[in-house]
Amino acid sequence: AAPRIDVITLFPEFIESSLEVGVVGRAVKRGLLSVQSWQLRDFAHDNYKTIDHRPYGGGPGMVMLIDPLRECLQMVRQADPRPAHVVYLSPQGQPLTQAKVRELAHRPRLVLLCGRYEGIDERLLQAEVDEEVSIGDYVLSGGELAAAVLVDAVGRLQDGALNDPQSAVQDSFENGVLDCPHYTRPERHELGDVPALLASGDHRKIARWRRQQSLGRTWLRRPDVLARCDLSADDRQLLAE
Ligand code: ADE
Repeated sequence: AAPRIDVITLFPEFIESSLEVGVVGRAVKRGLLSVQSWQLRDFAHDNYKTIDHRPYGGGPGMVMLIDPLRECLQMVRQADPRPAHVVYLSPQGQPLTQAKVRELAHRPRLVLLCGRYEGIDERLLQAEVDEEVSIGDYVLSGGELAAAVLVDAVGRLQDGALNDPQSAVQDSFENGVLDCPHYTRPERHELGDVPALLASGDHRKIARWRRQQSLGRTWLRRPDVLARCDLSADDRQLLAE
């Protein structure tokens, strides 16, 4: 069976609308991936559909209640026999990287928890969440955008999602470094010419040039990424040129 992602949220339309387009929309239509969203309010206990309450200890904002989330998760788990890996999206999580995306893409079943307000009662997180993931050091008003980011990044890696499987291999970060520049027609343009080497047909030289561009841009733009990369002797030579 295809991998399955369940998203628990107060805004299911948000997740669903992002699945109608593009590479991941097509992957879902082709049945390479199934994505199901769940309205947390359906699991509220009162007529007001309450899912949050004031924090103990005072302070601003509201905290999401344990029980609606717990009951929702129970239904989600029951909806498929495969064990679920539960991810909570929050700025307190481990940073999302392409390596983490690859790891999550191999899981047969992911459940994404989207928080709103000040967050979720810590006891629910302790009991039910396998890992907490952040998409960057900034604060969103809720986890939905972060969940959509994760669904996109994981969805495009499913077998058959990309027209050319090679394109995933060449992406930025898949090699540990940034992608090289790309050019298409026309070869000559008011804004500049395509580097002659790319039209030369010399594939060995082209591959070398691209690697050199990738390394050079990573050095200039993301020295932090380059520092964590273990470069081959050839790479060091290319960077030095
Ligand atoms: N929810 C709010 N901000 C977030 C972030 N930066 N990453 C993941 N989830 C979030």
